[in-house]
Amino acid sequence: MSHRLPRIALPSLLVALGGIAAAATVTAATYRELHRPQFHFTPATNWMNDPNGMVHYGGEYHLFYQYNPFGDKWGHMSWGHAVSPDMAHWEHLPVALYEEDGVMIFSGSAVVDWKNTSGFGRDGEPPLVAIYTGHYTEKPLQNQHIAYSTDRGRTWTKYAGNPVLDIGKRDFRDPKVMWHEPTAKWIMTVTLPTERKVSFYSSPNLKDWTHLSDFGPAGAVKGIWECPDLFPLQIEGTRETKWVLIVNIGGESIAGGSGCQYFIGEFDGREFKLDAQQPAAQPAADRLPKGRLLADFEGRDFGNWKPEGASFANGPVKNFDRFSGMIGNGLATSWGSGDKDQGTLTSPEFTIDAGHLSFLIGGGNHPGETCLNLIVDGEAVRTTTGQNSGSLRWENWDVTVLRGKTATLQIVDRHSGGWGQVFVDHIVLGDAPFESPGEPALWVDYAKDFYAAVSWSDVPAKDGRRLWLGWMSNWQYANDVPTSPWRSAMSIARELRLRRVNGHLRMVQLPVEEMQTLRLSHHKMEWDDLVGSRTISPSGLGGRQLYELKAGFEPSTNAVFELHLAKGADEVTVLRFDVPSRQFTLDRTRSGKTEFSANFPGTYTAPFFLNDDGEIDLHLFMDTSSIDLFVNNGAQVMTSLILPKPDSRGLELHVFRGELEEAELELWELKSAWR
Ligand code: FRU
Repeated sequence: MSHRLPRIALPSLLVALGGIAAAATVTAATYRELHRPQFHFTPATNWMNDPNGMVHYGGEYHLFYQYNPFGDKWGHMSWGHAVSPDMAHWEHLPVALYEEDGVMIFSGSAVVDWKNTSGFGRDGEPPLVAIYTGHYTEKPLQNQHIAYSTDRGRTWTKYAGNPVLDIGKRDFRDPKVMWHEPTAKWIMTVTLPTERKVSFYSSPNLKDWTHLSDFGPAGAVKGIWECPDLFPLQIEGTRETKWVLIVNIGGESIAGGSGCQYFIGEFDGREFKLDAQQPAAQPAADRLPKGRLLADFEGRDFGNWKPEGASFANGPVKNFDRFSGMIGNGLATSWGSGDKDQGTLTSPEFTIDAGHLSFLIGGGNHPGETCLNLIVDGEAVRTTTGQNSGSLRWENWDVTVLRGKTATLQIVDRHSGGWGQVFVDHIVLGDAPFESPGEPALWVDYAKDFYAAVSWSDVPAKDGRRLWLGWMSNWQYANDVPTSPWRSAMSIARELRLRRVNGHLRMVQLPVEEMQTLRLSHHKMEWDDLVGSRTISPSGLGGRQLYELKAGFEPSTNAVFELHLAKGADEVTVLRFDVPSRQFTLDRTRSGKTEFSANFPGTYTAPFFLNDDGEIDLHLFMDTSSIDLFVNNGAQVMTSLILPKPDSRGLELHVFRGELEEAELELWELKSAWR
């Protein structure tokens, strides 16, 4: 596949802004700096957030992006610009739209106006039209604007009649526009962030907009709704099409901070109707068991619960971001200073005056050693362990036959090896067993660094793919990630598909095949009945650790195994597959630089399944400072920043329990897309 060399080879690039020269200096050292991504898009200098204006035209994928032309923190939002023939190699172009007259250029989209409905076209060439949010710096207002280009996106003119859509609101943003053929109209999908709503508008010409309908609140509603998208997708292996509504959410995700959810349904040109099988929004109160709250561990200490041993020496732990799923901020964990600490935490006596005890539990799966026990007359009459998992799950005990008895609860940690820890939260004695409502949303990504994702418009029909990428950061720490002179990268581009996964329709993501243009040497490894450890990294992984890894594992039913990634003398990122609990976790707590934000280190958990052949597959892209991970052929995705030292390049496979009856790994070293 042909690809253009990025234009940044120029010694310097000067862009003029109203007489002021903003210099984005590109030198021979640019793209060789510490932590600089080698095949993810980054601006040469300065701050970047959301992808914007994604449109394909004349063989070029355009990528505009939220950009601060003047510094490496969020501010002066403008649209930076780059183009690519293949979504892997990028050429920087001058800033397309600058903040001007107190109006920042917030997120939005772009389309090819094939029929010249806007009248901006010239000489029979269709114009590119950008639709974006004007954010007013001097008053609480956001409204929608357009700009156009008649030279393949090289220069842009703001429309004199802006704004084209104004409803006088402070929060009204991120318009994504598409052509809807059946109604022969433009459709705008735009959010009312604080109302947790998406609004749909239609227009014949991109200038006059009519309100059609609203969708929401639904799904995950704790965070604000931003950057929506709406598109049809064919269900794999069928001719059936469904509509997917994307809603990025500020401050809510399965892993913490900003996230991205999606809805599957129908769109008739006027209204989005959610399919029945989707998890719907539930009021917070319905997500908790009803009854007498015996403990929630929200206090400063354990109150009248009695701790013994090193395990519980620290009191209830707050904001424990190694793990997920607790209620509120605090929980009881036997982590102490690590797996090795042991101890117990015992409740005061209480009378069993209802039939069901419900609680959240996580941690080690060591019966009798890492567990919650119900003690009556000195004997453990009920006991439950964790599942060797970082996410808490709901458990219920039927205690009807114990009614009237006096009891205590005891959290026990008598294990010092791996998963030598247990954690418990929110214990309720009530009249009915509690049915866990599950997650409120369908999540696009299970880690923390995939946000504001939107898809490319106008990908040629003969290609037929729905393609997108996301901003690879999180508002919790985006301004603090220690990289210079740029800040933030985009994820690699992915193809979206709809698939039936275990009976449910789900959107899945696959790395675009154009990433193969970066492949260098190929290595293949196979093992049967693998136990113990293997070092995988081939000797010649170069000065930087760039690779693509594809693996298939056929584990025994009790297998627990890990891939150690970006491993150095004192750092490692751990990808752990726990077959009994059907969960995998990505642990970046020791991945390198993590201390710049308390919200950065963490362990993220996602479910997986074994395919019909009893196998798990994974596909992973390792850049200098990030991982794009696809499991189960793209059904579960994790996108995660890591900041290891440049020489932390180890790659190892460790089987801790059971065995891998078959393990097959293919690894390609990748080249930089920038040099
Ligand atoms: C999402 C977002 C958008 C907004 C843009 C501003 O990350 O908050 O809602 O348009 O960033 O930079």
